[in-house]
Amino acid sequence: MKKTQLGKHGMEASAVAFGAWAIGGWLWGGTDAETSVDAVRASLDAGVDFIDTAAVYGFGLSEEIVGKAIQGRPRDKILLATKCGLRWDIESPTLHAESDGRRIFRSLKKESIRWELEQSLKRLGTDYIDLYQTHWPDPETEIAELVDTLEELRAEGRIRAWGFCNETPEHLAQAAKLGRISTDQERYSLLDTGQNTANLPVCEAEELGFLCYSPIAQGLLTGKVDSKRQFPAGDLRATSPRFTPAVLEALEVVLPPIVSMAQDRGVTTEQLVLAWTLMQPGVSHVLVGARSIEQAVSNAAAGSIELSKEELAMISKAADAWPGFEALG
Ligand SMILES: NC(=O)c1ccc[n+]([C@@H]2O[C@H](COP(=O)([O-])OP(=O)(O)OC[C@H]3O[C@@H](n4cnc5c(N)ncnc54)[C@H](OP(=O)(O)O)[C@@H]3O)[C@@H](O)[C@H]2O)c1
Repeated sequence: MKKTQLGKHGMEASAVAFGAWAIGGWLWGGTDAETSVDAVRASLDAGVDFIDTAAVYGFGLSEEIVGKAIQGRPRDKILLATKCGLRWDIESPTLHAESDGRRIFRSLKKESIRWELEQSLKRLGTDYIDLYQTHWPDPETEIAELVDTLEELRAEGRIRAWGFCNETPEHLAQAAKLGRISTDQERYSLLDTGQNTANLPVCEAEELGFLCYSPIAQGLLTGKVDSKRQFPAGDLRATSPRFTPAVLEALEVVLPPIVSMAQDRGVTTEQLVLAWTLMQPGVSHVLVGARSIEQAVSNAAAGSIELSKEELAMISKAADAWPGFEALG
């Protein structure tokens, strides 16, 4: 497993991280806690030392599952990342989403972050977070106030490092001037290179880790999702505009060369896609979700795959046939 720098402050972690959203169940059609614990442990056993969760995933359940999975493991050998800023228990001026009869609000106010951190620490069964991330921007909180809060928590040793998700290049640059930001986390995959590349130049200039979320496009890039696949009620993919017949049809053009290259190399399609993603300029880590031991072990193995220049170019060429989600909408 390759290890890569998480920003410029001396932290590193496995290039493949375990993404713990789906094991929280919410928006993924439920979860089996025991299987999820096994999946996280299998990932750690396969060389992954980086876990990305969030308070809001399963409304605390994902963090509890991760906490259980890491019990008894050497804490200093795991890079634990979680997120704050989406509250389902209070209201704020900015509604983020409504789902399952719950309303989720954004807040990155100091007192809110401090409260959230304590809850996350309890659920994760630890007394510090390695990487604390803001989940979505809060228009009510100035970047200077936010940086001040995060730097306070770092000085107190409650967090080792901090980063942003779903942010603008301007806010990243501002945060880098005001404090010690380490990472930016954005949606980025072979099907989603365009919309977030705006952040990459800032990440490069400020030496921030660039963490790709949904790197296999929530399963679309496994080659195993076709029109016959039925998603259960409560799985966001059942109604997602990113899982339409038009998208699946376009993938029938994009994926075959990648599937066939994977077969020739004796790896899986998603492993090849993850390896390609990790080799894109500026990318430091992929955060990939897994809900079973098999998926966790398979995804971890992608962190050891090296692609030649020719192979990289062939995969990029296949990706050129992708018209983009917007064009298919
Ligand atoms: N900061 C943010 O706002 C944000 C947003 C989204 C995600 N994230 C982070 O990024 C992580 C990953 O993103 P994601 O879960 O949205 O998408 P993803 O990693 O692209 O896809 C995960 C899904 O793909 C399927 N899968 C995974 N490995 C597989 C394998 N080896 N073979 C076949 N299918 C496989 C599984 O679903 P099925 O088996 O059910 O098909 C799994 O739940 C999250 O867990 C979270 O940590 C962050």
